[in-house]
Formats: sequence, structure tokens, C-alpha cells
Amino acid sequence: MIHIENNVFTLHTRRTTYQLKADAHGVLLHTYYGARIGSDDLSPLIQLVDRGFSPNPNELGRERNYSLDTLPQEYSSCGVGDYRMPAVVVQNADGSHLADLRFQKYETRPGKYALPGLPAFYGAEADTLVITLEDHVTRLAVELYYGVFEEYDLICRAARIANHGGASVQLLRACSACLDFPRDDLDFITFDGRHTMERELCRTPVRPGVQSVGSVRGTSSHQHNPFVMLCERNADEDHGLCFGAALLYSGGFEAAVESNQFHDARFTIGITPHHFCWTLEPGDSFTTPEAAFICSPDGFAAMSHRWHRAIRTHLCRDPYKGRRRPLLVNNWEATLFDFDADKLVEIAAAAAPLGIDMLVMDDGWFGTRSSDFGGLGDWTVNESKLPGGLEALVPRVKALGLDFGLWIEPEMVSEDSELYRAHPDWAFHAPNRAPSRGRSQLVLDFTRADVRDYIYDTLCQVLRNADIRYLKWDFNRSLSDVWSVALPPERQGEVYHRYILGLYDMLERFHRDFPDLLIEGCSGGGGRFDAGMLYYTPQIWCSDNTDAIDRLRIHYGTSFCYPVSSMGSHVSAVPNGQTGRTTPLETRGIVAMSGAFGYELDLSEASPEERAIMKRQNEDYHKYYNLIHFGDYYRLTNPFENERYTAWEHVSEDKREALVSLVKGTARAALPCLTLRLRGLDESLRYRVNGEGSWLGGTLMHAGYPIPTGGGDYRAIQLHLTAE
Ligand code: GLA
Repeated sequence: MIHIENNVFTLHTRRTTYQLKADAHGVLLHTYYGARIGSDDLSPLIQLVDRGFSPNPNELGRERNYSLDTLPQEYSSCGVGDYRMPAVVVQNADGSHLADLRFQKYETRPGKYALPGLPAFYGAEADTLVITLEDHVTRLAVELYYGVFEEYDLICRAARIANHGGASVQLLRACSACLDFPRDDLDFITFDGRHTMERELCRTPVRPGVQSVGSVRGTSSHQHNPFVMLCERNADEDHGLCFGAALLYSGGFEAAVESNQFHDARFTIGITPHHFCWTLEPGDSFTTPEAAFICSPDGFAAMSHRWHRAIRTHLCRDPYKGRRRPLLVNNWEATLFDFDADKLVEIAAAAAPLGIDMLVMDDGWFGTRSSDFGGLGDWTVNESKLPGGLEALVPRVKALGLDFGLWIEPEMVSEDSELYRAHPDWAFHAPNRAPSRGRSQLVLDFTRADVRDYIYDTLCQVLRNADIRYLKWDFNRSLSDVWSVALPPERQGEVYHRYILGLYDMLERFHRDFPDLLIEGCSGGGGRFDAGMLYYTPQIWCSDNTDAIDRLRIHYGTSFCYPVSSMGSHVSAVPNGQTGRTTPLETRGIVAMSGAFGYELDLSEASPEERAIMKRQNEDYHKYYNLIHFGDYYRLTNPFENERYTAWEHVSEDKREALVSLVKGTARAALPCLTLRLRGLDESLRYRVNGEGSWLGGTLMHAGYPIPTGGGDYRAIQLHLTAE
């Protein structure tokens, strides 16, 4: 709900309130964000004080207690007296770097705004507010978009920067959002890592100066995720005010918090300003990616639940937002590049009786690709591995009762490929410079429509020749040598972002032309695991690390923003290829089942005992599917702090059913007994646990449930609770 009175804009969601005000000078103040309150003008909370070395706008004459440097603002100006992080940086035609943005007008609209060519939350039940600011000299206008989803406590923001003046302007920084918090007691939480160990939670107090995370790799990256949090120092799963901020963007980003001289915090999020320079000719505009915020007055768990629901229902699109995802077997860890049609059919034949829905043929099926040194770009079937092509293979797999899926890496080219030999200029490279290779491959210039059209057409042929239900869309290096022959020198600062717009254009075409196709995103596992991708690919391969124990940490970090249904998660063979660790098959199943579940091993080699366990796992997954994918997810322990065991829980919306999973660490003798306190149940309902006993919800949550000790290394336990 949006309440507007005397230029005070109050955005109410069910549990939170967000307020801004255009003051008498036209400065757009940020007056409040937190637990739900009324619509009173909160600007009297801002105390105006004469501060040394904080300039005053010219029109204030001799008045010294009003300064942009100290006021909490909604989208901070640049170069006119605010020395904190600017929301926007420009270079005007006269060479100055000044933008003094003042309120001009506002407008409200029913429904959620959309951003052309960019991912965004959608929904008819949301409300939109658009506030326009303008610099009176250059006539640079900034439209600030607000989308308010009451039920999810979700507030979306984006900015459209338009040049209404008569001279060209260069945009050097364009944040999606800026948020000022007049408080000094916040922690900054980020999700950091590396290839095969993504999204480890890192929490630090906000300290004087700027703290930031980001990516300059051209992808959102394994190293830092474009989801971050700010929270009160004492906030935890159940208590305290916290704010989550997600950037719906798959390219380089920056999320930063600054504590200024008076310990007030400013947060900004948007495209990384590194390598960014966008020319706005008169009449041009630039639209930032969307930033989304959820505030929870009562801790992390409630915030995560709202992110999960909002992403599932208002970001992921039909048909897969509600449709059951296939339980799949992928041949990558089973065979790497060394497979042929018979081997795949053998795996499919072993999968069929286990209740597996789909075979995914991973890397190595096309061109001359027999290792990762060649072949990318040649999207035609390698008939020496697959005689008769997909037209022959897919019906054989379908005859066994399985659907068929395919791995692709459309944005890449190998130098050893027909495509590269024909079009060496299609790969990113700068004049007179040999480009760096990553995994021995180069990146195609997706800013170019001709390059995209060619790749799209070749892939369409593949998709039209056989019944393919799923694509794994991979991306296996970071960008370098970014320079496009299609743009003049003064526009090379646009290439990184135009690349992402090209990627989104391609993904949108697949969504439009193949509406039933499920696409799973991937970038060496979780190198492009972001809310932007989830608009096009409702699930993303979470990590190339399939070790069940490492996955506990990866899933934990990922779960703060992203729903279980988005996390591609497979059972693989032991000893694990990444860690060398051996874990029980039951444990691997319980861990992977809390995700978009599948297998990634040679099922034809499984023993009868293993096959029996897998069959049970698959039955369980189907049985618990709604609970796992659509229930509320509770983190019961923090695997970074508790090495002894990790536990989590899925609870149905009506609280009548729950699934608790617990994985122990390495076995030790004579350990203390373990009592696990559950969460999210109905205190007054009685539950049966694995069909036995009668436990009051309040007892299970406050006193706990006894977990048997022993059992060896990495034992897992699953408890299914049903209300009586
Ligand atoms: C990436 C993916 C893997 C696999 C390989 C194939 O690393 O994350 O799952 O598909 O590429 O080359």
C-alpha cells in the first residue's frame, strides 16, 4: 500500500514501512525503513545541525545547518556537497562531474513496473510508485521506480536515467538503489567464496569507511554473491531487524556500505562502476537492473521465507514456477567426456526402474569435443560418439521411460572449432592483443545481434530435431579482454553491460519460443547464481562441489535468499571427486534431496543394495516434494559454527507436516547426548515422528527431540512429522 500526503511517500507492506519525503528544497529524503508503523511524516527525526566542512546548498543563503552531506537521502547526488558514496556519477558535456537531483513529480500505477530487457519481479497485486528527480542545469532526469509487494514485505527498486538536456552525458556510475540508515549498530553480511565453495556467510560490524563486495568478472561470480544483508548487531534466526538486498543482475556488481563521520550508514547496490561508462545522447535513457529489498523485524528465518516465496511465485516464471521439476541423472561425473550413445542408454536403463525422470547428456556431445580444449561453438552432434545424432539417441532414452536433457555453453567458443576458424572476430579480444584464455576457451561477443542470432539458430535446430525437455546452460570462465568490434572506442565502457543484455535477450527468446523447456543455469556450478538468472532459469547448478558435507555449507549460505527449488543438487559417487571424502549414500541422498534433486554417477555400476537405497530416496523425494519445494525452510544449525552436526527443516504452510534432516560430522567416542530443538511447528498440535509417538509441537520446539548417538562418520537422520 502506498500512502502519499504532502510529498511524504509511505510504502507499507504487511510487516514493514518505508518512507521518503521530498522536502521544501526538493531533496528526496529517506526518513524510515523498518518494522511497520503509521504514515506520519518522520522527517522531524532528522536533526539539522551546522557541521564543519559540510557545505550548504546555494539557495540557503546564510543558513548553515542544512547539508546534503548529513541528510539521509534516497538517491544521492554527485559532486554538490555530499561526500558519501554517490548513487550516480556523471561527466557532463562541460567536463564537470555534477548532478544535483531534485524532486520534480511523482506518479503511482497499479501493478508492478517491468524493466524492458531486464529481469524483474512481476505481479498484478503489487503497486508502483515513480518519483522523478532532475538536475535543473543539465536536465538529467532520474526516475526512481518502487514496486511494493505487501504480502512478501518486498520492495523493488530501479532507476531510469534520462538525458533531457541538449548535450551528451557520460554515466560513470548508476546504482539501482541507495539506502541511508541513520544508525551505527549494523552488521554487514555477505556470501563469499570460490569455485567449488560458494556463498560462505561472512558477518562483520559496519565500521567507519566503505566496505564492499562485488565482481568485475562480467558475471555475478563464485567469489561474492549479489545478495547481501544488513542487520542489527544482535539479530539472529529468530530476533532482530534485518534487511536483505538482492540485485537482479548476472554481471559485475557492487554492494557497498559506508559508515560516515557521524556513524550513519549508507548502502548502495548496482552494476560495478569498474569498466562502466555509458553515453547518453540527448533523448537517451539508461535503465539500471532491479534491486530488491526485504526487511524482517523478526530475524533471518522470516526474511528467508519471504525471499523464497517471492522468488518462487513472482520471479520464476511459468510453467516451471509451480510445475514439478524432473528428477534427473546427469552423466558428467560418471563419464566426463568419455561416453557414447550405448553408455548413455545403459545409464538411462539403470535409472528407469529407480523412478528417475530424465537423462541429461552433459558436455562432450558436439563438434569434435573430446576434452575441454576444443569444440565449443560447433553445436552439431558428434556422430562418431552418437551415430544417427539426437534423432537416434533420444527415442532410445524415451523408450526406457525417461525424458531427455542437454548441456550447452552458448556464450563460448574454442579456438579449435569450425566457428572460430570461420569467425575469429566473434570472440572478445582487443586490437593487437592476444586474449587470455579461461578453461582454454574464449567468450563470444554477445553484444552483437548477428553473433547471438547465429548461436540461437544453431541451437534451435538441435532443439527442433529431437524431443529435448531441458537445457543445462553453462558458462565456464570469467570475462577478460572485453572489447567489441561493434562499438566505437568511446562506447567500449558499455560492453560488459551490453553483454548481459545480450545474454538476457537470448534467454528470453528461448523462454518465448520453447515455453515448455526447463533451463538450469550453471557457471562452473554456482558462478552465476543470482536472482537475475532465476527469472529465466528457475534452477541453477549450485556448485561443482558435490561432496555432501561441503554442500551443507553451500546450501546454508545459499538458503538465506534463494529457495530450495532453485538449488540444483545431485548425489554423486564416493570417494567424492572434489574432496576425496566418502559419505554414506543415505547421507548424500538426504543432502541432495533438499534441492532440485538428481544423480550424477554411473547408475549402471550401482550394487543391488545401492539401487534399493536410491529407489527409496526417489520415492521419498516424490512423497515430500511439496513439503521440500513449497514449505518454509528453517536453518536449525550453522554449519560454520557447529562441526558436530548440521540440521535443517521444511515445514508445510499449514504446519501440519515437517521434514527434519540432520547430518553428523566425523564420529567421536563418548559424545554428549543430542537433543534437537525444532522450529516453525504449531505449539498446540500433536505430531507423530516417523509414524510413532505423540509429541506436542511446543515440546519439540522448546524441549527438543532425542537424536540417537553413534552410527559412524557423516550419518544422516531424517524425521518426518505429521500432525495427528
Ligand atoms: C561445468 C559444470 C559441470 C559440467 C562441466 C562440463 O564445470 O559446472 O557440471 O557440466 O562444466 O564441462
